[in-house]
Amino acid sequence: MSQPATYVIFGATGNLSRVKLMPALYHLEAAGKLPEGTRILALGRRPWDRDQCIGQIREWVSARARGQLDRTLFDRFAARIDYFRGDLTDDGMYPALYRFIEEHPQFPRNIAYYMAISPAEFGVVVERLHGAGLLQEHSGWKRVVIEKPFGYDLESAQALQRRIGRHLREEQVFRIDHYLGKGTVQNVLVFRFANTMLEPLWNRNYIDHIQITHSETLGVGSRAHFYDGAGAMRDMIQSHLLQLLTLVTMEPPASRDAESLRDEKVKVLKSVRPIHPSAVHAHAFRAQYSEGEIGGQRVPGYLQEENIPPDSVTETYAALKLYIDNWRWRGVPIYLRTGKRMAQQQSLVSICFRHPPLQFFRGTQVERIRQNWVLLGIQPCECLRIEMTVKEPGLEMRTRQTSLDASLRQEGEILTDAYEELLLDVLDGDRSLFLRYDEVEYAWRVVDPVLQVWATERDFIHTYPAGSWGPEESRRLFEKEEHRWRHSLEPEDGAG
Ligand code: BG6
Repeated sequence: MSQPATYVIFGATGNLSRVKLMPALYHLEAAGKLPEGTRILALGRRPWDRDQCIGQIREWVSARARGQLDRTLFDRFAARIDYFRGDLTDDGMYPALYRFIEEHPQFPRNIAYYMAISPAEFGVVVERLHGAGLLQEHSGWKRVVIEKPFGYDLESAQALQRRIGRHLREEQVFRIDHYLGKGTVQNVLVFRFANTMLEPLWNRNYIDHIQITHSETLGVGSRAHFYDGAGAMRDMIQSHLLQLLTLVTMEPPASRDAESLRDEKVKVLKSVRPIHPSAVHAHAFRAQYSEGEIGGQRVPGYLQEENIPPDSVTETYAALKLYIDNWRWRGVPIYLRTGKRMAQQQSLVSICFRHPPLQFFRGTQVERIRQNWVLLGIQPCECLRIEMTVKEPGLEMRTRQTSLDASLRQEGEILTDAYEELLLDVLDGDRSLFLRYDEVEYAWRVVDPVLQVWATERDFIHTYPAGSWGPEESRRLFEKEEHRWRHSLEPEDGAG
């Protein structure tokens, strides 16, 4: 087990802390994974004392705990928590925080600062932590956990990196992409590198194209301010979907250590063919949801959501076609797609194999053989399916699709949240599931040309009714007429 540490959570009263961080820390307590002596220092502006803070955390955790909240367990967890009232923008807060920690020997000097705050504040908080001596490592390590987005585009990511790089070594920075903490995402690596069967097929000779989809039924919710300034390309594609793409397409790393893994991921991002500004419309598509129906309920369009400017052209749906110009993938289109208020909540990697030759079936009822698909369900279904063509029983030569199904979870196995794994990795100093700066930079290089063109096109955006699979017009990205969006794990008409 790792050494005891103090988790200082900036923005502890905010949404991320409420929905993800506190429940994850509680579950780590339940699993006996928090090292003895580890403490949590929640930092926020609200005029709370320790008891009020613990009372709130109890409510947040009860709402999200797996099963009923266990009182004894929660008391053990609560004993680790303290509250520090402070305003990030107040210079005096940082020396006060330093003194507070110094005066209380119960706080381990290994400290992880978790930035659950607005991205605009990352730089200034790091500077002030440094200024107050809070990053000094003479007594214990100091690590900083930075939520996405890291920057707003390539230039601002570079600027942020320069700014924090003055005070932090790369080993101290843990850039979170919570997708990497998801069990199935990690399973992509096991699936690829622990099964000999597929590796020889995993290339341009056998694979026709790849689709990576993350769709949500939820709308923008209470995050209007953040989301309207970001949009789906920045929010999902630049980060989570490009990360998934690297795992699906990278070369086998020499080992599981963080650097080998990240080296291979960066190689993929560097090999993505740059999108020329004149080709943006052939490679990228954006749209915004209009009013529609989700689960039988009418829901408003994006422009009617609270705090969204009525003339916003921010995309809530983005699709991107990429090519990886290396020996393995040259010429294989890779389609990434994400959207809010879509028909289903789903994350799915769909790999479509090439058509087999039809010669053998000439003169039979079989007019068309469907392609094989390998489907990696990330959520909600964590599974792996291989679709094959088999003969239908009977005297005639007809075929049908069937799938080999390897579900990842057996009945009764517990589903852990991505944040549990990641919060623990920070304490262990394991950076393999965190982004190295060059990964972030090359991911921005992929999407930046698209964002720049979109930024100039302020007059029009396609729309799609809430509850649909997005606009038909997104088909213009497809390289071949026969390509279709693969919406689900179930075999679909025309999907093969
Ligand atoms: C976040 C995005 O990073 O990921 C959200 O900011 C999105 O907009 C979320 O809803 C999706 O992640 P998950 O784990 O909830 O599917």
